[in-house]
Amino acid sequence: MVGKSVVTLDDVSTADITDLMSKARYIDSHRRQVAGTCSSRVLATLFYEPSTRTRLSFETAMLRLGGKVIGFAGAQLSSATKGETIHDTVKVVSQYADIIAMRHPKEGAALVAAQSSDVPVINAGDGGHMHPTQTLADLATIDARFGRVTDLTVGLCGDLTFGRTVHSLIETLCRFGNVRFVLISPNELKTPRYVLDRIDASPTCSYVEATDLSAVIGDLDVLYMTRVQKERFFNEDDYLRLRDTYILDEAKMRLAKPTMAVLHPLPRVNEIAAEVDNDPRAAYFEQVRNGMLMRMALESTLLGDPLPGYAQSKEV
Ligand code: CP
Repeated sequence: MVGKSVVTLDDVSTADITDLMSKARYIDSHRRQVAGTCSSRVLATLFYEPSTRTRLSFETAMLRLGGKVIGFAGAQLSSATKGETIHDTVKVVSQYADIIAMRHPKEGAALVAAQSSDVPVINAGDGGHMHPTQTLADLATIDARFGRVTDLTVGLCGDLTFGRTVHSLIETLCRFGNVRFVLISPNELKTPRYVLDRIDASPTCSYVEATDLSAVIGDLDVLYMTRVQKERFFNEDDYLRLRDTYILDEAKMRLAKPTMAVLHPLPRVNEIAAEVDNDPRAAYFEQVRNGMLMRMALESTLLGDPLPGYAQSKEV
């Protein structure tokens, strides 16, 4: 993976994803040992769209590995306002930085950036398309809860049309196999055909579509809640009509398995009541922490900077 860009998780083999999860666990238990791994490196974060977790966790990851960070949080602070193209911006920034994380509202922007850059580019979310590092956080969280990412019934609930984290997660779980998906959404926000095609192409995965969360929650090992993506709606009335379709609260949690894990990429609006936060099945803040650890693993891997002691720990 050294020197490669990650536009989608198709750019990362399943063996490499498994190794990244192993590295993340190692980093978590060897914080001091890995603190100088990327000490001569510079990460650039180019965020043309709002973010709290993704940008800050990419930056924290590099700082915790001993590197430095440059970048902008908002296109209005960059020369994009003067008409500079993604190609030119990324080409320029790749002369300054060793690795780039970019978020952009347009699908395909990350691919353009990767093709323009002299250093690895990591897609930090491109429109409604993909969000591969969120998926790494999701997989690490499922793995931490169940000791595997296969042989599970995974419910995805909410905005399955515009939720890029949903698309990335489904496509990646299909590569590991043996997952039964329960796709819970209003009819207006169903999973796109190209994502369903990926499930259909898997010999061991299947899906059902549902509209009533209460009717299916008892079957689920994982419930992945999502926010209705206001910023991707063309029509405010449609957003207002659909935004509160699903609200996970204590009453619905009583219908779920005692071992079910609740994930959410965050930010949430109304879709998980605060009363669920203290339920041990709520895994979404653990997921945030896993996001930082997985980004540490990914940055050091793409840069070819070995984690001190990691190779030896695998030999034991
Ligand atoms: N999960 C996620 O992508 O959060 P941000 O939009 O805050 O980065």
